[in-house]
Formats: sequence, C-alpha cells, structure tokens
Amino acid sequence: MYFELSEEHKMIQQAARDFAREQLLPGVIERDDKMIFPAEQVKKLGELGFMGMMVDPKYGGAGMDAISYVLVMEELSKVEAACSVVVSVNNSLVCYGLEAFGTEEQKQKYLKPLASGECIGAFCLSEPEAGSDATSQRTTAIDMGDHYLVNGPKNWITNGVNAKYYLVIAQTDASKGHKGINCLIVEEGMPGFVKGPKENKMGIRASDTCSLQFTDVKVPKENRVGEDGFGFKFAMKTLAGGRIGIAAQALGIAQGAYELCIQYSKERKAFGKPISEHQAVAFKLADMATRIEASRLLIYKSAWLKDQKMNFDHASSMAKLFASETAMWTTTEAVQVHGGYGYVKEYHVERLMRDAKITQIYEGTSEVQRIVISRGLINV
Ligand code: CAA
Repeated sequence: MYFELSEEHKMIQQAARDFAREQLLPGVIERDDKMIFPAEQVKKLGELGFMGMMVDPKYGGAGMDAISYVLVMEELSKVEAACSVVVSVNNSLVCYGLEAFGTEEQKQKYLKPLASGECIGAFCLSEPEAGSDATSQRTTAIDMGDHYLVNGPKNWITNGVNAKYYLVIAQTDASKGHKGINCLIVEEGMPGFVKGPKENKMGIRASDTCSLQFTDVKVPKENRVGEDGFGFKFAMKTLAGGRIGIAAQALGIAQGAYELCIQYSKERKAFGKPISEHQAVAFKLADMATRIEASRLLIYKSAWLKDQKMNFDHASSMAKLFASETAMWTTTEAVQVHGGYGYVKEYHVERLMRDAKITQIYEGTSEVQRIVISRGLINV
C-alpha cells in the first residue's frame, strides 16, 4: 500500500488548483448571487481536457484515470461547486455512460463533442415523483417501430438549460418494472422537447438546474443506449461512478471551508490571542481535518477500485455518504468559527455551507447511500 500521489497526479492537481484560483475565484460570489452559468470557465475546462477526463483519446477524451478525476473535482469544488457539478455530470454520468454502453456510432456522434468539451450533456432520471424511487418513471418512451415516442416531465436536471445532448431514462413497458425502462439520447431542438426556466436554488446557484418537458418527441431507435430494457441498470451503473465525483465535490467543499478557517482563526484575535489558540476553535479544526482526511481516503479507495476495474458500487456509496455529511458538518462549523463574518458573502463560508447541502441530496440522498451500503452488507 502506497499513500503518495504520483508526480503526474500532483501536476494535474496543481493545474486544477491554479485554474480554480485564477479562473473561478474572481467572479464566484457574483455568479452565485446572480445565478450566472460559468460558461466561459466550462469552455476553458474543456480545453484543459477536464470535461472528458477518463474518456479514451480516440473519442475526444483525455485518457486519465479516476484518481486524476477526483483530484480535479476536489480542487474546483474548494472554490466553486456550481462549476464542478457541470464537470462531474458531464464526466461521470454522460461521458462514462456513453463510453461504457454506447454503440460506436453513438460514440462518434455524441461522445466525441461531449468529451472534448465542445458541448455539455445532461443525465435525466429524476421526475416530480421519482427521485429516490427511481424505478417509478412516469416519462414514457413508447416503441413505435423505427423510433420511440417520448412523453413526460423531468425535474432538477443539472446542465438542463445549457446541454446539447440529454440521456433520458423513460418507461417503455410498465408491466416489466425496471426491466421495461430505456435510456435514450435526446438532442436539444428535437420537436416537442422544451426546457423550463433555471431553478432559483439555495446553493450551487450558478449551475443551470431546470425541469424538462417532452411532448410526442420522436427519438430514433439508434439513440437507445444498450439493449431494450437496460435503462435502469444503465442508470444504476452510471450513478455508482457519479457518486465518486460528488463525493469528491463534497470533499472539496469541506476542504475549502477548512482552509478558510485555518487562515481566519490565525488572524482573528479574541481574549488576547488568535482564536486558533482557544481550544473551542482548535478542537473544531482538529475534527474537521480528521473527518476530511477520512473522506479523502474513502474517495481515493473507490476511485482506485474503479481504475482497477473492480466493483466500486459499495465503496462509492460509502465515500459519498461520509464525504457529504462531512461537508455539511464542516461548513456549518466553519460559519461558526467565522462568527458574524461567516454570515456574509465576502468570506465565502456561507456559500460553501449552502453548496454542501446538495451533496447530501443529488445522485442519491444519504438515505439512498445507506440502502446501497446496507444491502451490500447483507448480500455478501
Ligand atoms: N449495477 C448494476 N445493476 C444494479 C445496480 C448497480 N449498481 N444497482 C441495482 N441494480 C439492479 C439490481 O440488481 C436489480 O436487477 P435484477 O432485478 O435483475 O436483480 C435492479 O437493478 C433493481 O435494483 P433494486 O431492486 O435494488 O432497485 P430499487 O428499486 O430497490 O432501488 C435504489 C434501489 C438504490 C434506491 C435506487 O433506486 C437508487 O439508486 N435511487 C436513487 C437514484 C438517484 O441517485 N437519483 C439521482 C438523480 S441523478 C442526479 O442527481 C444527477 C444530477 O443532476 C447531479
């Protein structure tokens, strides 16, 4: 067992750290406040190879490993989780799903522009009444011979406004339960496909979450990903990898808040000494550092398992559960350490606290992660 990052990993980490400091930090408060999508930054991330990090270069990707991906996710999320979620969804839900299960034609047509950062994609599973209970899809994809006819709503879709291609999970045959669900590639502009307005969210406000409506949208048969009825398993397999990315996002949010606390508590004096020298603060810092390091180890392990092509379903749920709870706890304490300053935007920790909350909800709530983990324990 070896706990050091390779020189190559350190270079990728440094590149992401520099990008976050130079390109994300300057406008992050304004983008959060006014809900401005970080379009320019996403384009530059594409040029760095960060939008299709793990995709084979022959399909426009950077051919990096999952460890590199979590390093980049952590660095970007320390500063702007609203930007890192765009990276996460494009990499681990959309690009991974197409590379692992798409046809050669789908990879040439859709994966190449998505992985090279020419455009972004969205993953459309959630519905008004199908969040955690993902088999209860109301959106239908009726088999019409040479095409599917898609009808229904999707909710809370990350990248919903700005994506060009959408992986849409829909029910083809309700009598077959989860085995009657398909995943279809829907293109922006297909007649009957309408995007809703951007949601006014608590956190990750600059990201473009919205609802989608499909009314008699004709999707060619060749746009189905995988065999007929593979859609639910496609979603589960893809989400298992996505959870590594969101765990790394939570890690970055926690680490960002912790670093701000270290800096602030060494400068701020109370009762005649820096507050970092008061145990009330010092013990919080010790607990933050310990929980963050434990999260990091769980995340690196799940990324390592993915790189070894071993099963990582259980590990990624553990990493996401622990890291997202750590992010919520750490950021709440970070606001407390900053006192009144923590409650105003200029000090960044209040935004990190609002951003942390979503990591306990999307790509499976903490409760869903506990279902996956406990079933894995019982079924061993
Ligand atoms: N890999 C392969 N197959 C899997 C799997 C996996 N990881 N997980 C489940 N399956 C299979 C099962 O083996 C089963 O197949 P068989 O019947 O052939 O054995 C089938 O899928 C059904 O599995 P379950 O019986 O376990 O399904 P369930 O209805 O009990 O649900 C659940 C389990 C874990 C709660 C699941 O529904 C789930 O993960 N829900 C949460 C969905 C989610 O994460 N939504 C987030 C939306 S996407 C998002 O947030 C993106 C974004 O914008 C940021």
